[in-house]
Amino acid sequence: MPITGIYGPDDFANRPQGQSTIPPCPAPARSGPALPMPSLEWTPEVERATAPLYERIKHVIPPIEWPLMAPTIKAINELKQARGAVILAHNYQAPEIFHGVADIAGDSLQLAVEATKVKASIIVQCGVHFMAETSKLLNPDKTVLIPDSRAGCSLAASITGADVRLLREKFPGVPVVAYVNTSAEVKAEVDICCTSSNAVQVVESLNAPSVIFLPDRYLATYVASKTDVKIIAWKGACEVHERFTGEELRAYREADPSVQIIAHPECPPDVLAEADFTGSTAHMINWVRQKRPRRLVMITECSMADNVRAELPDVEMLRPCNLCPHMKRITLANILESLLTLREEVTIDPALAERARRSVERMINLKN
Ligand code: 13P
Ligand code: SF4
Repeated sequence: MPITGIYGPDDFANRPQGQSTIPPCPAPARSGPALPMPSLEWTPEVERATAPLYERIKHVIPPIEWPLMAPTIKAINELKQARGAVILAHNYQAPEIFHGVADIAGDSLQLAVEATKVKASIIVQCGVHFMAETSKLLNPDKTVLIPDSRAGCSLAASITGADVRLLREKFPGVPVVAYVNTSAEVKAEVDICCTSSNAVQVVESLNAPSVIFLPDRYLATYVASKTDVKIIAWKGACEVHERFTGEELRAYREADPSVQIIAHPECPPDVLAEADFTGSTAHMINWVRQKRPRRLVMITECSMADNVRAELPDVEMLRPCNLCPHMKRITLANILESLLTLREEVTIDPALAERARRSVERMINLKN
């Protein structure tokens, strides 16, 4: 059914100005000394040591570019060992990160679940800030680093904890589900989190006739189309996925009626209406592994098509993709810097973290 209502900052006259009501934590002391910069020369030894990695990404990284990347990849992989660190990377990270240095890669749900199992004392999060915050919530005693803390998300930026409190005042007793693409401050105000992998399951787990689902209006619309629960939405959107149009997908189909189209549920409804399959980034990857389409249009962030093509070069990717500028803030150079200097460390006010952690853990503990 269609969403029942949609609200945004302009709908609350008494909305406090400004983004956050939570004071930022003071910068933490570094948990170890900075290490010297290793040599980043392209030598026969670097070529030999990184040859197995190049084999994995040779279909998406031209040979001329490899000598520029391989020394940094080798240095990062050695430093991880020296620091006792683990690298978690989202499916939207560039192939040299996803295939070259990540220990664990996945969608937001997989990264959150894997974060609960990490043994290493340092986590380097290659993704956006809310993902690093989620890792910190689940690992309060570990050092969580993000190579560039400016890696934000238009969804996370669209809503504050104060907005959630205003929604609760307007709809007393209605449970609140927050997409993980939100700040810890917002997670602290809600009943449970969800990702695009489990959004319908989370909404239905609450056994309520109505649910406030925030902040993505399009994911909310998609969830509403899959459940009888009444969905009250927020006017947030992903700046990457909202740019796709149904019209451009119809043009691909007209050019080749056999083409397969798969899309992320952060896309607008007219885009999802053209898709053969809709799912989270991990669900999309699994779909491609199983179906092995000859020609595929992947309606999501561009790097994911590269990461899949590296693994399945026989699938021809048509690429009307959009780049996420926030995901692309993470580079080999700043991952290396992060491991050398142990910066930038993610910190969350402990009292707020305790409340936010409950919402994330409640999602993780849901039975499948
Ligand atoms: P997934 O949970 O599907 O990986 O999505 C995260 C995200 O930010 C998509 O834009
Ligand atoms: Fe946020 Fe969209 Fe980037 Fe995902 S792709 S991190 S939802 S801005």
